[in-house]
Amino acid sequence: MAKIFSLRPLFLCVLCLKLTFAVADEGMWVPLFLAKYNETDMQSKGLKLSAEDIYSVNHTSLKDAVVQFGGGCSGEMISAEGLLLTNYHCGRSRVQSHSTLENNFIENGYWSMNRGEELSNPGLTATFLVLMEDVTSEVLKNVSSGMTEVERFLAIEKASKAIERKMVEGTHYEAKVKEFFGGNEYYIFITETFKDVRLVGAPPYSIGNFGADTDNWMWPRHTGDFALFRIYSDSLNKPAEYSPDNVPYKPKKHFEISMKELKEGDFTMVFGFPGRTQEYLTSFAVKQLVEDEDPLKISIREKRLAVMEKAMDADPQVKLNLTSKYASIKNYYKKFIGESIGLKKVDAVQRKQELEKRFTEWVNADANRKVKYVNLLTELEKTYAEFAPYNKGVVLYNEAFTTLDFVTYVNSFTKLSDLLKKGVKREVLSAEVERQAKYIRSFFKNYNRSIDLDCANHQIKAIIDFMPEVLTEKQRKKYKKNNDEYISTLFSGDLLDSLKSVANLNALIEREGKKNIPDTIKSENGFGANDLAFQFVTSVNENFKENIYPNYVKLDIKLDSLNRIYTQALREFQTDKLFYPDANSTMRLSYGKVEGYAPNDSVVYTPFTTIDGVIAKENPNDKEFVVPAKLKELYEKKDYGEYAVNGTIPVCFIASNHSTGGNSGAPVLNAQGQLIGTNFDRNWEGTAADVMYDPAMARNISVDIRYTLFIIDKFAGAKHLIDEMTIIK
Ligand code: ARG
Ligand code: ASP
Repeated sequence: MAKIFSLRPLFLCVLCLKLTFAVADEGMWVPLFLAKYNETDMQSKGLKLSAEDIYSVNHTSLKDAVVQFGGGCSGEMISAEGLLLTNYHCGRSRVQSHSTLENNFIENGYWSMNRGEELSNPGLTATFLVLMEDVTSEVLKNVSSGMTEVERFLAIEKASKAIERKMVEGTHYEAKVKEFFGGNEYYIFITETFKDVRLVGAPPYSIGNFGADTDNWMWPRHTGDFALFRIYSDSLNKPAEYSPDNVPYKPKKHFEISMKELKEGDFTMVFGFPGRTQEYLTSFAVKQLVEDEDPLKISIREKRLAVMEKAMDADPQVKLNLTSKYASIKNYYKKFIGESIGLKKVDAVQRKQELEKRFTEWVNADANRKVKYVNLLTELEKTYAEFAPYNKGVVLYNEAFTTLDFVTYVNSFTKLSDLLKKGVKREVLSAEVERQAKYIRSFFKNYNRSIDLDCANHQIKAIIDFMPEVLTEKQRKKYKKNNDEYISTLFSGDLLDSLKSVANLNALIEREGKKNIPDTIKSENGFGANDLAFQFVTSVNENFKENIYPNYVKLDIKLDSLNRIYTQALREFQTDKLFYPDANSTMRLSYGKVEGYAPNDSVVYTPFTTIDGVIAKENPNDKEFVVPAKLKELYEKKDYGEYAVNGTIPVCFIASNHSTGGNSGAPVLNAQGQLIGTNFDRNWEGTAADVMYDPAMARNISVDIRYTLFIIDKFAGAKHLIDEMTIIK
């Protein structure tokens, strides 16, 4: 620890922004700079704390109760004994992994009634931020203007690694330098990661995902999207791999929970780990996103989801197996739709063009600026145009090709094939065959050939249409004659039929071996050369690796560099604007207030929903809107305990906190820094905010903490968990 602090004076902030005021509620602010840039504004809007109460390295602060959950979500500590609150959808795959059809926790929920029943989750982590520093000058010290992008990258990488090493030497912490403002600034993050994170409780799907995909990305919302976990540590309160001897972790800080009435206009803040935003893109990039990239992803996912849904509806085991996967594909499918609509609605491209016009005038008005920036926008435009086909190739490859299970399967044979091509000793080969056999067994346990084939039917077509050269002349003829039939033949080759067992695998190798010298086996065409699936997959992979990916990377690097310069130029141009860096999965604080919105003529949304709305949406014949009997019973008896407000239970609320994917599970706090809800989504009209924020439309959606407490206590009967918490009445 001492080491960490001793380095601090080295890295004092080097870039002091000229700033005047903060605009609306846009912004994902860097905790380190709250005192400098945001404190006054936040306090004027109602915050009762100081920046130091929120983020401090000298004493415990709110940040010590915030975690990054499982890498991609946020979460918060809500008891002195390591109890962690996050979203249901952030823990759903864990709930699924503990479920069987007989003990279906997705259907029925899971509630541990004592610590012994808390379920371990291999691989699940919870990460705390110990501290962060601005290390820009240190990282860039060997970077000079004449460097190529690659040289620049290597210099930055080298400097970053050195700082990272120095900062955590002799501690159990981890360090990571991350780039901000597209690479104009660099900050280091020192973190502590816990690896024994157990499932404590989750509501049934019909609460945790109530309204499911119909309501997803929508307001009004009635979802109890929360789940409880507990962090365990070794006996010294330090991170440790799972062990039955581990004990509940004692966090430096846990949030107090406020039961006080929440009102429209109340100050709120969200403290979490937003993943990715792209607020400083040019019109060329936004146009590409709206016109090409989003529609392409939408069309591929649409068909894939239809296939999955049919199979899930027909078989409960398939439904259980695919629950998480389906939800995550559908989640962004819908997001891309909302984003495209939203960006068109706010005239994003046109607004960017107007900004670029003003920018150009500003550049042309000054000789020095002209030297630096005169060609920047034309270069960006040209490069985005060149980038488009390769970007399409990458999107197709990722969305339509690698998502097919048989592609994953066939790819797993690559190593074996390469060994055979080179020639390999029998012993080495047997070990590899053993490994492969293990994989084969696990693969076929869950493989659903009919889903895969149905998806392949349209996905492979998209691939072949884009890169027809992956088929030979003869294959192309066959494909043209009957493409469905051709695609189904891909599934009936050796790899998928005769190689499901080790015996078959060995037999095939024996066959090759006979043609070779006894102790070395070599097969010129590698493995499975006569297999259509192997041939096809290899051919697509090679085409991708040779013709698409290298060009994609080359242009992507160029775009990174141009965008870095553009971001810096914008900051010089818009001196009256307080810039925040795009989200990059590091800890950020957003603030705003409880606030409704009016998306269309005569349509006005108020910011609160209640359990009455849950019941009003109930539809026992629609799997997305089933209300569990127990919840209805509580509703009918008005058995709300102390969680009621004005005779009902608050369920969700919206506020104007700038958020994005990764903010899910994040604590939503009031002016005193007490927990009032858990962030889980955004509204339909606000989904475009990742690219262009519109203060009139962008709202974050949270589960009201009182709904969470009500479900834990009254629905699940897990009062012992409430007793651990610090509740402020
Ligand atoms: N849209 C929210 C987010 O991006 C919630 C997703 C969970 N719900 C769902 N139906 N998939 O993660
Ligand atoms: N639901 C998102 C998440 O999982 C949050 C959002 O995109 O608003 O992080």
